[in-house]
Amino acid sequence: MSASPFVVAVDGPAASGKGTLAKQLASHFGLTHLDTGLLYRAVGAHMLASGGDLDDPEASAAVARTLDLTALDPAFLARHENGEVASRVAAHGPVRAALLDAQRAFANEAPGAVLDGRDIGTVVCPHAQAKLFVTASLEARAERRFKQAVSADPNASLEAIRADLARRDARDAGRKDAPMAQADDALLLDTTKMRIDAAFEAARAFVASRFECSGTRTS
Ligand code: C5P
Repeated sequence: MSASPFVVAVDGPAASGKGTLAKQLASHFGLTHLDTGLLYRAVGAHMLASGGDLDDPEASAAVARTLDLTALDPAFLARHENGEVASRVAAHGPVRAALLDAQRAFANEAPGAVLDGRDIGTVVCPHAQAKLFVTASLEARAERRFKQAVSADPNASLEAIRADLARRDARDAGRKDAPMAQADDALLLDTTKMRIDAAFEAARAFVASRFECSGTRTS
């Protein structure tokens, strides 16, 4: 009997470092990686471009149902404004339902995957063998985003970025369907005062210990 794919769930708020950690973990353990935020960003960006109503659950879900996961443009979707529209459409239950099967299918492909998002450990992959919840203070996250933004736009404002992140956190954690939350069995990693290499080492050691427990392999 072949072992079930090894799944690592990495959740947490924007700019916590979860995306970088998820990519590094996937590369280290030889797993595939899905940034699930891109799916919500693609739906929001499409709604915005087509003049659709971001607060209309059914219109947003119709876009989510026709999303081509192989044709996402990460560089375009990474833009700050697409994070805000993503969070608006992500609050709709029908949008989340439309994206669920694709995320689970990705996770179930051998040899396994690292998925990062807000609800991976709680809703998308509740049986993931390793779960991490990566966070950092609002101030630290705002400063990280500001440093990225100011290199492209000298007029970027730390205050505006901080306010955007706070609003997005509140919407993501407060929504009814699949709110951002730490799973009971997730390791909490607070990266406020951690360098990325130290955060990666802590995450790597935890995932390796879960690999050993699962009997899948050890790295
Ligand atoms: O992770 P990222 O910042 O790209 O996510 C953009 C938005 O997509 C989040 O603010 C959140 O509203 C939504 N999202 C979600 N569930 C996920 C991933 C992202 O609701 N699993």
